[in-house]
Amino acid sequence: MIPRETVDAIIETARIEDVVSDFITLKKRGTNLLGLCPFHGEKTPSFTVSAVKGIYKCFGCGKAGNTVNFIMEHLKLSYPEALKWLASKYGIAIEERVLTDAEKEQQQARESISVVLSFAKDFFKSFMHTDDEGRSIGLGYLTERGLDLELIERFELGYSPNNRRAFAQAALKQGFTINYIIESGMCLIPGLDADTVITAEAAIDRFAGRVMFPVHDEAGRVVAFGGRILGNATKTAKYINSPESPVYKKSKILYGLFQGKKHIQQQDSCYLVEGYMDVISMHRSGIQNVVASSGTSLTAEQVKAIHRFTSTVIILYDGDDAGQKAAQRAIPMLLEEGMQVKQVLFPDAHDPDSYAHTHGEIAFRRYLEDAPQDVINRAAEQARALGSSDPVQKSLKVRALAQWISCIPDTITRTLYVQSCAITLDIAESVIQQEVNKLRRQQAGTQREMEQLQTQATVLPSPAETKPAYTPGIAEELAMLRLMVLYGAQRIDTTAENEEGIEVPLNISLSEFILFELWQDDLQFMDAIHQELLEFLSMEAKHQRFPTSVALMQHANPHIASFIAECIILPHDLSDKWKTYGVEIQDEQLYLKKQAEHILYSYKEKRLQQIINEKQELLKTVSADDAELLLHEIHKLTVLKSEVNALMGRIITK
Ligand code: UTP
Ligand code: MN
Repeated sequence: MIPRETVDAIIETARIEDVVSDFITLKKRGTNLLGLCPFHGEKTPSFTVSAVKGIYKCFGCGKAGNTVNFIMEHLKLSYPEALKWLASKYGIAIEERVLTDAEKEQQQARESISVVLSFAKDFFKSFMHTDDEGRSIGLGYLTERGLDLELIERFELGYSPNNRRAFAQAALKQGFTINYIIESGMCLIPGLDADTVITAEAAIDRFAGRVMFPVHDEAGRVVAFGGRILGNATKTAKYINSPESPVYKKSKILYGLFQGKKHIQQQDSCYLVEGYMDVISMHRSGIQNVVASSGTSLTAEQVKAIHRFTSTVIILYDGDDAGQKAAQRAIPMLLEEGMQVKQVLFPDAHDPDSYAHTHGEIAFRRYLEDAPQDVINRAAEQARALGSSDPVQKSLKVRALAQWISCIPDTITRTLYVQSCAITLDIAESVIQQEVNKLRRQQAGTQREMEQLQTQATVLPSPAETKPAYTPGIAEELAMLRLMVLYGAQRIDTTAENEEGIEVPLNISLSEFILFELWQDDLQFMDAIHQELLEFLSMEAKHQRFPTSVALMQHANPHIASFIAECIILPHDLSDKWKTYGVEIQDEQLYLKKQAEHILYSYKEKRLQQIINEKQELLKTVSADDAELLLHEIHKLTVLKSEVNALMGRIITK
């Protein structure tokens, strides 16, 4: 850990204009500096650096942040790595903070597990190349599938012996403790539960008799394995995978990203396939910009990981039903992240590997070059092909198409798709546009400025622990945080009940007002980053501190720093929205309370609806007694929701 003071020293010393100038040429433009954006290909400069604010913002691609964000993004470094890079540029010595005992223990566990996994990889490799069983069975299988030694080495493939104690014994002999061997997921104790005493003798190999595919993290460390059964035995699963562990979080890892990231960046596109063998097979055909989500459906975190290297994804999922369903789930997530999405469809339930095998590498490459189609344009073609014989079916297709378009964060891109689809379908542009608008209103709340905030939200890099596609209420979370960050310390007049239940006037800060309202209803933010920032602001507010946006830019979480940069650089003029309600305002600050109330009520209404929906789902599964209780709760919530609605109506017309 780098101590807080050193972080501050680095941030103070590393001037944004100085750091950025190391990579791009900046010209003075007004109070700012302007250059060609390093993050997206552009010919006219829209990359703006504000030396005064210490931040950058590209008006082309939307990327924004402080000095550390810039280095992270540009050099693809983690937060501590970026700090170290800057420290060495400016000759600042880093003395890493002494870790607490708990931190030490955690770190030691992670390191120990990593070492077990790395040992396992070497063990399986060496067994496959040197042992008779390994050579005839493991290596034999891979060679049969067309892999040469270079490729086998690139992916560090191996073979786990049939003897169920082989790895356990080797690892114990090496001196690893049984607990770490189990935690790494390489061995297991059958029937293990909380009371079982873990003994070295009881542990057996999880992957015995399987061909081993190590899964690497981005830095090339082995974090997990996939193990394939030989041949097509159907008794057990074809592949088994390591369980999650302190070093392996399934939703964050993409198979092949380590081997492929350089190529993804160079080709500025990324093929997305389903399986281990698909990735390797693509490499065999000379195509290296490829990753697989391997056995889980694609997650928002994986999408963000790809987006750091390119904005174009070409889906190559299996031609079977499961593959097509998976593609239908992946497409909106990718669109929402602002990516261009293409897809190549494989005939006859082929996957990339089997297609390459059946038709040969040259035909495969040609197929990939000719076949990719933009998913939205293709869907429009398909709808057109329905002709005019079945208007109902066709309208369903058009609606589905509008649904996809409505996910796209960028307004210009959305408009262009609306135009091209209108031409293809020979439908008036306004019809599709209206449908898209309607969907966006539903998705992002009813307010225009919310939509804009949403657009920004989607260009923010975020670990998105819990950020599902267009969750209702996310836009309101953003809007509340934005108000607190920009105007949190401003005082507003409100009322509150005192101990005797009498309403008394109260003058408090805007941040306290919002925090109090949320706290009253026990609401936490859904998005992990939003919640982290909220908690931070709440801690500060308890001490009557309302950090300015400039101070918040130095927050240790780089995603928060980047979020703050967005808030500062694009102060929204909300007056348009109020005009539609017949309210003339000159300055959004004057209407802070009204705005805050509006956003709060809109948020509460959506969260209440969510809870109602969940309870209604639950209703389908419970006994009659429980159902009565549930119905009662639903009723109460519905009343509450209409009260919130009424409040909202009041502030709009008031
Ligand atoms: P597939 O069934 O398409 O396998 O599953 P594949 O990659 O084409 O495998 P080969 O060519 O028969 O060897 C796609 C991916 O889903 C996961 C694996 O990551 C696999 O690569 N999977 C599949 C499992 O985790 N478990 C299974 O039992 C099957
Ligand atoms: Mn497959």
